[in-house]
Amino acid sequence: MSRLKIEGGHKLTGNIKISGAKNSAVALIPAAILSKNNSTILNVPKISDIKYLIEIMELLNCKISVKDDTMFIDTSKIKYHSIPEELSQMMRASYYYMGAMLAKFKKAEISFPGGCKIGNRPIDLHLKGFKKLGVQIKQEKNKYTLTAKELIGTKIYLDFASVGATINLMLAAVGAKGITTIENAAKEPEIVNIASFLINMGVQIKGAGTSTITVVGSKNLDKGIVEVFPDRIEAATYIIAGALTGKDLVIEGIIKEHIDAVLNKLTEANVSYKTEKDKITISKAKNIKPVNIKTLVYPGFPTDVQQCFTTLLTQAKGTSKIIETIYDSRFKNTEYLNLMGAKTKYNGNILEIEGITKLTGTEVYANDLRGGASLVLAGLIAKGETIIDNTEHILRGYEDIVLKLQKVGAKIEEI
Ligand code: EPZ
Repeated sequence: MSRLKIEGGHKLTGNIKISGAKNSAVALIPAAILSKNNSTILNVPKISDIKYLIEIMELLNCKISVKDDTMFIDTSKIKYHSIPEELSQMMRASYYYMGAMLAKFKKAEISFPGGCKIGNRPIDLHLKGFKKLGVQIKQEKNKYTLTAKELIGTKIYLDFASVGATINLMLAAVGAKGITTIENAAKEPEIVNIASFLINMGVQIKGAGTSTITVVGSKNLDKGIVEVFPDRIEAATYIIAGALTGKDLVIEGIIKEHIDAVLNKLTEANVSYKTEKDKITISKAKNIKPVNIKTLVYPGFPTDVQQCFTTLLTQAKGTSKIIETIYDSRFKNTEYLNLMGAKTKYNGNILEIEGITKLTGTEVYANDLRGGASLVLAGLIAKGETIIDNTEHILRGYEDIVLKLQKVGAKIEEI
């Protein structure tokens, strides 16, 4: 079990470069199997999830070579293979192989993917959509076998604008005969990133980034090239670190529009920052104001940022409230923030944060990826030393987080 040790109270100053988005990259790699010869993916983050996706690609007899952050995927000799539990359990995003393999092979065998413990994370919307496309689904315990004589384009309405279901169904629709329309589709930037990759391969897609996406089934897809968008959640995490203890901290390589909801909330909390082109400069905020947040699907306030924002709000003078509408239990990090001296309490999906509270370092536990990140931020401002256990989660989603923070003056190390 990897652990991080952080000595609080150090100013962060200098430049942090944002990496490619984890939540785009983990969908782009499975999508690459749709090309009949090869694909290039630029700006791939070096995080452990990518490693497992590469192992699955090699199982399908694809050749992967990575040079710096560019991944070259040769799918010319691809062969069908079921995806074993020990691989697909490693992360939830392995479910994108369902949609991609249905389009490519009209079948897929995969065990229900793992992922963070932030609440029940079913894939009913994915499966409902697959069935509408003509897929037969057999489930034995947590193993799914999906087969289709052929996929027929159709109209799919998503009960919830699920990111995963939108992407998975977009992938499967590529292999369908005729036109598929996805209504109430998710509008997250990741959807646009994946659609641009498929369009580059020769798929006709309209409406990615809106609530209605149309996909024209296509065969013989040519080579594709795509650049992974900058990670909007990583960017928000380091911007909040700057608001907590920055001194002209520069976060660069961002797409500002992707984090408008977060920047808007920071302004409402009386946190100032400078934006220019693809970078943000931010220093420790004085006199942070309490705010109310409701997490929503894009372009609303992202659920993936609410835990890090909670750490910031422990330093706001007054009571803040966060309503989590996307997951049914994403406040577990607050148990450890309270252990450090924060005053928060939640009831169901409503969290209240009383500030200003002095935080003191102690031993804490990363229950999930973004919850772990919120504890790193707390450690950066806490008095004394914070030890965070179970930090595989954090290292899984933030490329070189220890190095990036050390470079700007944080006293943080892996122990
Ligand atoms: C993606 O998860 C992200 N993960 C999550 O980021 C992110 O929190 C989420 O989108 C929302 O933005 C990846 O992209 C790998 P959803 P996903 O389908 O696709 C329910 C992180 O920290 N739901 O939009 O799983 C589900 O239970 C991770 O980087 C169903 O009920 O999100 C959840 O409550 C955490 N049935 C809500 O919808 C389904 O079939 C959001 O799910 C699918 C989802």
